[in-house]
Order: sequence, then structure tokens, then C-alpha cells
Amino acid sequence: MAANPHVLAIVFILSVLSSQWMYAAAQNPPLFACDIDKDPTLKKFSFCDASLDIKTRVNDLVKRLTLEEKIGNLVNNATSVDRLGIPGYGWWSEALHGVSKTGPATFFSSLVPGATSFPQVILTAASFNETLFRTIGEVVSTEARAMYNMGLAGLTFWSPNVNIFRDPRWGRGQETPGEDPTLTSKYAVAFVQGLQERDDGDKKRLKVGASCKHYTAYDVDNWNGTDRYHFNAVVTKQDMEDTFQPPFKSCVLDGNVASVMCSYNEVNGKPTCGDPDLLKGVIRGKWKLNGYVSSDCDSLDVMLTSHHWEKTPEEIAADALNAGVDLNCGNSLRFHTEGAIKAGLVKESVVDRAVSNNFETLMRLGFFDGNPSKQVYGSLGPKDVCTPANQELAREAARQGIVLLKNTPRSSLPLIPTSIKSLAVIGPNANATETMIGNYAGVPCQYTTPLQGLSASVKTIYEPGCVNVTCFIVRIAEAKKVAAEADAVVLVMGSDLSIEAETIDRIDITLPGQQSFLVSQVASVSRGPVILVIMSGGGMDIQFAKDNPNVTSILWVGFPGEAGGAALADIVFGRFNPSGRLPMTWYPQSFAEKVAMTNMNMRPDLTTGHPGYTYRFYKGETVYPFGHGLSYSSHAHHLVKAPKFVSIPLEEGHVCWSSECKSLDALEHVCRNLVFEVKLRVMNVGNMEGSHIVFLFSSPPTIHDAPQKKLLDFQKVVLASRQWTTVSFKVDVCNHLSVVDEDGNKKVPLGVHVLHVGDLQHSLNLKI
Ligand SMILES: *[C@@H]1O[C@H](CO)[C@@H](O)[C@H](O)[C@H]1NC(C)=O
Ligand SMILES: *[C@@H]1O[C@H](CO)[C@@H](O)[C@H](O)[C@H]1NC(C)=O
Ligand SMILES: *[C@@H]1O[C@H](CO)[C@@H](O)[C@H](O)[C@H]1NC(C)=O
Ligand SMILES: *[C@@H]1O[C@H](CO)[C@@H](O)[C@H](O)[C@H]1NC(C)=O
Ligand SMILES: *[C@@H]1O[C@H](CO)[C@@H](O)[C@H](O)[C@H]1NC(C)=O
Ligand SMILES: *[C@@H]1O[C@H](CO)[C@@H](O)[C@H](O)[C@H]1NC(C)=O
Repeated sequence: MAANPHVLAIVFILSVLSSQWMYAAAQNPPLFACDIDKDPTLKKFSFCDASLDIKTRVNDLVKRLTLEEKIGNLVNNATSVDRLGIPGYGWWSEALHGVSKTGPATFFSSLVPGATSFPQVILTAASFNETLFRTIGEVVSTEARAMYNMGLAGLTFWSPNVNIFRDPRWGRGQETPGEDPTLTSKYAVAFVQGLQERDDGDKKRLKVGASCKHYTAYDVDNWNGTDRYHFNAVVTKQDMEDTFQPPFKSCVLDGNVASVMCSYNEVNGKPTCGDPDLLKGVIRGKWKLNGYVSSDCDSLDVMLTSHHWEKTPEEIAADALNAGVDLNCGNSLRFHTEGAIKAGLVKESVVDRAVSNNFETLMRLGFFDGNPSKQVYGSLGPKDVCTPANQELAREAARQGIVLLKNTPRSSLPLIPTSIKSLAVIGPNANATETMIGNYAGVPCQYTTPLQGLSASVKTIYEPGCVNVTCFIVRIAEAKKVAAEADAVVLVMGSDLSIEAETIDRIDITLPGQQSFLVSQVASVSRGPVILVIMSGGGMDIQFAKDNPNVTSILWVGFPGEAGGAALADIVFGRFNPSGRLPMTWYPQSFAEKVAMTNMNMRPDLTTGHPGYTYRFYKGETVYPFGHGLSYSSHAHHLVKAPKFVSIPLEEGHVCWSSECKSLDALEHVCRNLVFEVKLRVMNVGNMEGSHIVFLFSSPPTIHDAPQKKLLDFQKVVLASRQWTTVSFKVDVCNHLSVVDEDGNKKVPLGVHVLHVGDLQHSLNLKI
């Protein structure tokens, strides 16, 4: 095709046209309603009066709309209502780890050619730093607002992805904060608050709107013939309540997120976007979402054509609206809502509810307050995107996340630049650019590849070793030659979006193709340290390298974002002391051969041989466990204070007064004031300053099929060499020590809970 000159000419014309169009778009003012300067008659509408409360304005607006106008505002590409001065709004923008080019409402132009591209979320999560999560959210929303002001982005961003990274093969695991509900919940809250909360403290309004997705138990993209459009996640009540739902709950209740997006899959035989219990019941009812429920893109079509949930699109439209969907990414509701109303399947009042939730969100975003240049974020523009400080934060995030998996003391990391005359930099990801930003990325401000990062400090020799990460064809002789001549070797291996991505789950969890062979061969001829760097979203079975003494260090860098190579060099040369910890278990390849990815059961099952998932339930061998990560220092923990007993006062007449109880319902009157303190002294006993993450785990009594271990809380501290500090955790008995029983109810197990911090263990007896 490329050989045909006519086609080339057309492609050329199209690209000229599209760049002109982009340039024209760059001149566009932002979209907003109530442009009173242009049309003073709009002043008479209450919905344009920013001094009135938002509910009043929404009611005023909705009662002026025709049914057709309402329907046009149930879809992501919303229709303008010209007679009321309301332009068509594009709801679909994304900002998973920087303003993204995924989603039709955002684009880059000559005016804003790129935005800061932070590490893919799984690496940022490895920093276990809530301040960092929030700060990234703040920077992303500032750049987003700046792009909105240039007419280049919307105000509603469908991020973050807070699904639990249950199975190592999942191609979208990279987008998530990992496998642990506590970490994922904290990430969700901090990132959402960073995105949404305004500097002026106006809690009623939003800087930008976030969305927590994909609700819920969405965890399979495309594996062994099952794709997400046909997948029915069979989930127990127990797993639902103690694994899949907690991040969404925190996101809504604590993060006050503006939106939740329902997923493609079914849960227990019902498509999530048509399930009134999940949407109206839980999100709107129990958690009181202050915002809109969106469908995933085209997921109403998926309900019809893949799940065959109903026979007609009108029935699907009615089901979705009745279940609690307010906004449809796609066009199903545009085309089939009127028919559904005429057929009596859904009431117009339900459409009013939906469209009110949508407009309320836009009002909270200032969309109906007139010209944004006169509002709080009105002065943001291209100068506020890709600033040196923002780009430095991208580098800092990667440094904080990178995990030192293995290090042979003295002979390996950190390298001293002055003692390295030449460094061999080998591997298919050694000079990676786009690979570093993973999926849901934008256009980065610039890239610093691993090779570029390392070359800034020492002389390097580069050899890709494989054509690409697939690594069918391997250049062993060339790689060995450069390795043998160098004082040290850095091998940058791993995956990219051709191996793990949306719609691509892995089959194997070893390094792709002949990568492992290349690593071993290179390691066998190297004279000095051999540093293996794994660039990937999910964990890899690299047991061979862990066991090979010739591989002296191993680093995991996730997909480290635009500044990944600079951050890697900071760690390799000891300018930054690594402190990242794995946010997910690294399983052996045998796991992938034994376990069906479609098995959603978190808990092991002896009868089927299912080994269970994540550090909370899986008892088998790991390559590296959840929470693993070394530093150039070591740290000592001393317990200063923790109770041996905690008594739960019971009301007279409680059933457990007279009979033996193994657990109590975590009800409000039982839980009141049941908080105690765990205090520790933590010391950096190494020679280098750095951060250290203190994890507080507990192992509950073995009732209700409880997790073997669970993360209660974590804190991160910076410590100079020989410095110590006190770390204190407030443990809330009902929130932290409770477990979920087989019916999905929260219970406080009585008996011995073992608390773990580092190597310390402390038994605590919970009694009546
Ligand atoms: C959005 O809808 C309008 C009509 O309301 C249509 O002209 C336009 O092509 C649509 N855009 C996209 C990206 O679907
Ligand atoms: C490394 O990648 C950068 C960015 O794509 C490119 O400019 C440079 O030429 C590459 N270096 C080598 C040695 O291939
Ligand atoms: C990787 O290289 C092989 C040739 O060795 C090629 O067939 C394959 O398409 C490439 N994969 C990607 C994702 O570029
Ligand atoms: C390590 O390297 C030496 C040669 O330097 C080689 O003999 C040995 O087999 C290597 N070990 C492994 C496990 O590959
Ligand atoms: C993959 O699907 C095939 C055909 O349905 C089935 O026989 C096989 O057991 C599946 N593989 C795993 C690991 O479950
Ligand atoms: C957490 O991240 C922030 C923002 O980058 C940083 O200033 C702080 O030092 C980090 N905290 C620790 C303990 O490393």
C-alpha cells in the first residue's frame, strides 16, 4: 500500500489538513455554557446564575429541556442546546498518569504539543507514598485545566482504574495500583482528591471530574478465548466485599469522586451496567455517589450483542437507565431512549434523574458559569504544561517507585561513575521511548530513555540484543562482545504493549522469547556487575536470574514514564536510594499453567486445586512477594507500644454473653471508640539517606476463611544515615482488624491477631 503514490499523496494531504485542523483547534476558545458576554439574554436563565445553589440551577435547566434535548445529553458526545446557549460537550477525556490522548475530547496541538507523562500507575503505586499520589493528581489536573482553556480537553477524566490486579496475566494490571485493597483504596482517594479538589477550598465545585472504574470485578481482558465482552465474573459475596468493592467504596465515600464507570463484564450473570443492585443500590444508595454513573464505552451495545442480556436495544436502554446509568459512553441511549419511553419501559422522570446528574457535574465544574477565563483556573495555559517542576515530578515518581529486587552487596549497586570506563547497555528496552509510558498515555513533553539517562553519567556501548521485546531473533554474539569489553552491564528487558495491554492478557509470565537466554549468556561473559532491569507492567518469572550469581542486581522499573531513563540512572549511580516495594506478587510460570484466569476466587480451593490469589490468600511459591523491595540502607524496627489485649465492651443481653462466639458483627455500637495505637521506632542503620516504607500487616484468627495476612496501613519516612524516628499507627478495631464472612458481612474475629512490621511480630488478643 505504501508503494502506491496516489495513496501516499492522499495520506500527505490528510496529514496537512489534520495539522491545519489541529492548529485551528488550538485557537478555539474552551467550551462553556452561559456566555453572557456574547448573548446577554442568557442572563434571564436561573441555571446561568452562579450565585444560586447548584440543585436549583439544575432543576431550572432540566425543566426547560425537551425530551430530545435531554436524550442528547445522556451520551458522551453530548448534543448542543443552541437556543439555551449550551454547546455540545465531549465527556470522554482520560488522565490515568498524565493527560492522555485516549478519548475523543482531548487532543494535542501546536499550542500544547505534549503533557507530562508520569509513570504508569503500577510503578507510582510501588512508591507507597500518598503525598505523591495526590501531588501527581494535582499536577495532572492543572495541565488538564490548561488544555481545557485552550479548547483541547474536556473537564471530565475517566481515571483512575481501581480494579484489583488479581491475576499476573492481566494486560491492564499496569493501569492499577496493584493487588492490595488497602493500597488501591488509598491510591484512589489520594489521586482523585488531587485531581478534583480546588485550591480555593470550594468543596462544592470541582477542578476536574474523575471517574473510578471499572465497576466491578472486571479483571479479564482477553484470555484463552474469553474476552471482557463475554466474561461473566463469578464472584462470591465474600470476595466481592473484601477484595473487589473496597477501592470503589473508598473512592466514592472518601475520595468524593464525581463518577463511577460500570464495566463490560457480567458479575454473577448480570451485566454491571444493567444491575440495579450494584448501581442504584450500592453506588447511589449506600455510598451516595455525588456525581454520575457512566457506562464503559459501548458497553450497552455489548450488553445486547455479546451478553444477549435482552432482545432489543430499547430494553437495554431502559435497563441501564433504570439500573442507575446516567451517561452512556457510546450512542445506545441517543438512539434507543425515546423508543424505550414510548414502549413504557422507562419513565421520562428516570431520564430527568440521569441528565440532572450529568448537568450537576458540569455545573460543579463551572461549565455553566460563563467565560472560564474569568474563573479560578482561567489563567492557566500552555506555560503551565510540561513545566520543569512537573517534569521533575515525573522523574521523582519513577525514582520513588523503582524496586530493587536483588542486590549483591559490595560488588554491585550503586555503581560509582568514576570507576566505570565503559558501561554496556543491552536489551530491547534499553533505548525505549513509547514503551516507557504504557497505555492510556498522552504525548509526553520529551523522553529520557534508559540509554540516554545512563549515558549522561558514563560512557556507554549500546546493543539492543533483540529486534524487539518479542525477541524471537537474538543477537547473542554481538551482545556478548559488548558485555565482555565493558566494566559493567545494564540489561533492560521486559515487555511492552504488544505483550501486555488492554485486550491482551498474557499466557506466559516468563520474559518473552529468548530474553532469558540473552540475559544468561551476557551474564556469563561479563567482567563486572550485571544489572538486570525489568521494564513491565506485570510481574515476570525471573527465577533464573534471581538464582544466577552472575546477575548481581535486579531492578523493576514498571513502565516508568517520560523520565524513566533519568530516574533509572539516579538509582543505578546512587544519587537516589531505592525505596519502592512491589505492589503485587510475582508468581512462577507454573501458576500461569495451572490457574484459569477466569477463576475469580481469591481464596484457595483444595477440591479444585485452585491456589488462590495475592499475598492475602495464595500460599504457593513466589518469585518475589508483595511488598518486596531492597534499599542501599537497611532499617531496624523496634516496637515501642502495642496492646497485648483489647477488650470489646458488649451490651448486656448480647448473644455472645452467654454463648461462645468466634466473631462479632462489626456494628456501630460495638465499634465505638475501639481504637488503639501501635508505636514503633524505625532506624536507618545504613550509610545512605533514603526513604523507608513501614508496613503494618495482621494475620487474623483463622475463622471465616480470613486472609492469611493483610495490610492494615503503611507509612513512609525519610531517614538520614543512623537517624531514627517514631512511627505511630492508629488501629481501628472494626475497620482494620475486621474480616468479611461468607455472606459478605463485616465481622470482628475474637482471639489472637498477629501484627507484623518488618521482622517484628506481636500477638494481640481481642476479647469480649
Ligand atoms: C458528535 O455528535 C455530533 C452530532 O451531535 C456529530 O456531528 C459528531 O460527528 C459526533 N462526533 C463524534 C466524535 O462522534
Ligand atoms: C535512542 O532513542 C532516541 C530516541 O528515539 C534516538 O534519538 C537515538 O538515536 C537512539 N539511540 C541509539 C543509539 O539508537
Ligand atoms: C517483533 O519483531 C518480529 C521480527 O523479529 C516481528 O515479526 C514482529 O512483528 C515484531 N513485533 C512488534 C510488536 O513489532
Ligand atoms: C556464571 O559465569 C561463569 C563464567 O564467568 C560461568 O562459568 C557460569 O556457568 C555462570 N553461571 C551461571 C549460573 O550461568
Ligand atoms: C483454555 O481453553 C481450552 C478450551 O476451552 C481448555 O481446554 C483449556 O483447559 C483452557 N486452559 C486453561 C489453562 O484453563
Ligand atoms: C513522598 O512524595 C513527596 C512528593 O514527591 C516527597 O516530597 C516526599 O519526600 C515523599 N515522602 C517520602 C517519605 O519519601
